[in-house]
Amino acid sequence: MVALRRAVAADASFLADMLVVAADWSGDHRRPKVQLLADRQVNRYLKGWKRAADDGVLALDDNGAPIGACWYRVLGKTEPGYGFVAPGVPELTLGVRPLWRAQGVGRTLLRALCDVAKERGHQRISLSVERANFAQRLYISEGFTTLSSGRDSDTMVKTLR
Ligand SMILES: CC(C)(COP(=O)(O)OP(=O)(O)OC[C@H]1O[C@@H](n2cnc3c(N)ncnc32)[C@H](O)[C@@H]1OP(=O)(O)O)[C@@H](O)C(=O)NCCC(=O)NCCS
Repeated sequence: MVALRRAVAADASFLADMLVVAADWSGDHRRPKVQLLADRQVNRYLKGWKRAADDGVLALDDNGAPIGACWYRVLGKTEPGYGFVAPGVPELTLGVRPLWRAQGVGRTLLRALCDVAKERGHQRISLSVERANFAQRLYISEGFTTLSSGRDSDTMVKTLR
């Protein structure tokens, strides 16, 4: 079982790495890291981390170094993320370092983040995922359902019970 800890303000740079991994999920590196992070649609998931309403969890290796992260941010109607569902519903981002994938880290992080969101009083949590990304199967198996669909992606939501 992988070790977890709550994300803090000083984790912004690791979260930026994971944001790049999530935005470039297929690994085609069409846009370099600096360009991705300069994109307002992308950096709104992290800019100014950690705001009072932000929260997240990190997975750690045996030396305590981060290997993956899942975090959420409550984005308003005026600056919605790709997974915007309604005001006040947090949108999550998930990424695991390539060497650590397919070992249950992503699922563990996702579950832990949903627990955090629930503890903080949220009733739902949302995300956006491209249908070609196998991550969608993970989300479905964790109880997320599709609320709306774009050309290539779905907005999914989970009710936190
Ligand atoms: C998506 C991601 C976070 C999953 O993390 P992970 O630690 O590899 O996932 P897990 O090992 O917990 O696997 C969870 C499920 O994902 C699916 N999965 C994992 N690796 C897979 C692979 N190589 N091929 C197909 N399905 C896979 C399986 O359904 C798996 O469930 P199972 O083990 O019960 O069969 C990780 O692959 C990643 O960082 N990808 C790039 C970033 C990304 O796509 N983020 C999400 C953007 S919406």
